Amino acid sequence: MARIIAGIGSSHVPAIGAAIDNGKTEEPYWKRVFSGFEKSQAWMREAKPDVAIVVYNDHASAFSVEMIPTFALGCAAQFPPADEGWGPRPVPVVEGHPALASHIAQSVILDEFDLTICNKMEVDHGMTVPMNLLFGKIDKNSHWPCPVIPLAVNVVMYPPPTGHRCYMLGKAIRKAVESYPDDLKVVIFGTGGLSHQISGPRAGLINSKWDKSFLDNLSKAPRKLAKIPHVDYMREAGAEGIEMVMWLIMRGALDDKVDEVYRFYTVPASNTAVGHIILENRKRGGKAARKGKPATAKHKRAAARAKPTQVRGR
Ligand SMILES: [Fe+2]
Repeated sequence: MARIIAGIGSSHVPAIGAAIDNGKTEEPYWKRVFSGFEKSQAWMREAKPDVAIVVYNDHASAFSVEMIPTFALGCAAQFPPADEGWGPRPVPVVEGHPALASHIAQSVILDEFDLTICNKMEVDHGMTVPMNLLFGKIDKNSHWPCPVIPLAVNVVMYPPPTGHRCYMLGKAIRKAVESYPDDLKVVIFGTGGLSHQISGPRAGLINSKWDKSFLDNLSKAPRKLAKIPHVDYMREAGAEGIEMVMWLIMRGALDDKVDEVYRFYTVPASNTAVGHIILENRKRGGKAARKGKPATAKHKRAAARAKPTQVRGR
């Protein structure tokens, strides 16, 4: 059966993508940021996931004020980089995993989470910047190391989903992944944040104390975070700090108790606090799973019981 081995939290600051694309990663300002992801890239090379689910928000690239899905799951075979105003980022087209994505859509929707199914979607820096931070810079004519399933969340127009809804959606995604019969190692990204505000009188706001407390609770007490109302994110982490609810989808998809294997935090990048964390599942992930040890008898029985029907997009 498929299993989620780990969750990755990462900011998706657009200026980080510009620094990569324009060869500025060795400049002192940016070196401080990128050096914090060197261990993460080594971790990812060892983990070798078969599929990544990336939870991110679209920044008026694939969607606009005309159409705002709360949760949009990418079920296509390919997701081209979007033109964000300066042309598409020079990154490879993202290859999807339509079979697993469609299976997740069916399982999660029948679990009463009303996803929008996207069979055609462009993806922007919200998704490709964290992928670069974890997979490294990849020539646009090459390929990302694994297929990726995008999950776009509305955190741009009020009302975004609650933290609790995000956390519970993560649990539904985990259930969906674990009922997929193929033996796949899956990682899930939660992206965005941390504290930042890009306009208005509080533009430039960064709240490191709040951010670090968020990371602590993400690791040890995620249910506390699921109770935080939107207004607290806005007040404490700035208007764009609401992106942090997306990390709760990632966290909900993991075991209650996880191993925090890496954390990085620095300020600022552009005008944003950069946060990053890697959390490994103890039972289904971690080193044992990465070394390809077979699933336990319990998991094999669960996979045998699950008989998913695929819903293919057109
Ligand atoms: Fe964003």
